[in-house]
Amino acid sequence: MDYVLGIDLGTSGVKCLLVSDEGNILGSASKSYKPDFGDGGYVEQDPSVWWENTQSAIRDIVDKFPEAEGKIKALSCSGQMHSSVFLDKDGSVIRKAILWNDTRTTPQVNEIYEKAGGLENLVGMVYNKALEGFTLPKILWLRENEPENFARVDKVIMPKDYINYMLTGNIKTEVSDAAGTLLFDVKNSCWSKDMLEKMDLSEDILPEVIQSTGVVGKVISETAKKIGLAEDAVIIGGGADNSCAAVGNGVVAKGQAVLSVGTSGTAIGYVDSIDSKVTGDVHLFNYSMPDSLYAMGVMLCAGEALNWLKRTFFEDKSFDEINALADKAPAGSNGIIFLPYLFGERCPYSDANARGVFFGISGAAGAGEMIRSVMEGVAFGLKDLFSLVTDFAPVDEVYITGGGAKSKVWGQIISDVVGRELKVLNIEEGPSFGAALIALVGSGMCPDFQTAKGKSVKVIKTIKPTENVKKYEDIHKLYTELYKTNKELFAKL
Ligand code: XUL
Repeated sequence: MDYVLGIDLGTSGVKCLLVSDEGNILGSASKSYKPDFGDGGYVEQDPSVWWENTQSAIRDIVDKFPEAEGKIKALSCSGQMHSSVFLDKDGSVIRKAILWNDTRTTPQVNEIYEKAGGLENLVGMVYNKALEGFTLPKILWLRENEPENFARVDKVIMPKDYINYMLTGNIKTEVSDAAGTLLFDVKNSCWSKDMLEKMDLSEDILPEVIQSTGVVGKVISETAKKIGLAEDAVIIGGGADNSCAAVGNGVVAKGQAVLSVGTSGTAIGYVDSIDSKVTGDVHLFNYSMPDSLYAMGVMLCAGEALNWLKRTFFEDKSFDEINALADKAPAGSNGIIFLPYLFGERCPYSDANARGVFFGISGAAGAGEMIRSVMEGVAFGLKDLFSLVTDFAPVDEVYITGGGAKSKVWGQIISDVVGRELKVLNIEEGPSFGAALIALVGSGMCPDFQTAKGKSVKVIKTIKPTENVKKYEDIHKLYTELYKTNKELFAKL
């Protein structure tokens, strides 16, 4: 038997998943690390931390499955998006990478709009709005704040590209991560000459772009021996974590979408052609499946809203007890509406000032209603993301994943609020599994994504919407009005 590895290179750790050539998950090994937080919204990480931890996670999984030693024929990485790794002409790291959740670049975001000629022109060139976290604002920040470092920049790549580079000696990126730089012409799948010109940047600082399933190169033999890969293992392009997560959660054809209720929440749908006007309200990025895009809406606080509630008010209760209390409360939580914007919001409103709200509390409100309202508020947020996505991606099959999907009551609330049947899959390893599928397809061990999915992904549960759909439609209107009415107040706050 041969094997592949799917690596998920995250912000707080790396996970390495061993998958057979038949697409079966055999096991995983993980390593944790922390980003460096600084004043002024700084979040940075030393790329050597990723490389050291990735190597040791690979070594660990090979040690757990000695039969795989020397038989891992392909590897691909899913990576945290947008974070910038600056390399000099010798391929050495110039400074710590500036991460996707670093917020120092508001002046550069404003500068991008100005130089691009406004929102419409920007979206016309790169299909997306400018956000602090994206790569381009970081490049401009470096040019303005550390000119001596900027002068040394030979290439800018993303975190998983750095791992690919260390494994092969080749510096490349692939379409799904290129799309998150704000310098990529998503429609034509190439670097945007217009954008580069307007930003006064040379295309030379950007790497060659391949498909997610394209080959970065062969692993360096010494490294292969050290970590246990086959000597002729191929390193496949891999993808942005959200793209890999969607692949790993079964989104492999038109009409499929996934809702994810992790710390943050996402709705992602497969897009094969753009028929609606692109406004930038939803992210449109190139997908890890060739010649396709994905539409993605992101809410910054989803599962974390319930974690916050538990930590703050119900520390003594287990999640089972919390779920049971929510289940007993009526749909609509007796008039309590919760806005889940604890960290500001990204979609549908790009509003850093927005905050959480409990609205409509009466003297009769109990713990159950408060908990249920938080679950409902997150579900309303997901509904907003889902409708942004369906403008571009007609959806007939919806999967649900993430911690929130494990709660029976919360899963039912989401189905009722979104008004859709939701399918829970047997796969919980989203991004790393997606990366493994990319490795299988990219190396030719599996002919295509549909075949790979057919072999390994199964629906284990279907959640059907109930008679509460109508009630939630009405409450959702109020939820929307509640934000709009308070928007100015949030800013004053
Ligand atoms: C996506 C984004 C995050 C990071 C997290 O646009 O910023 O999801 O990819 O790793």
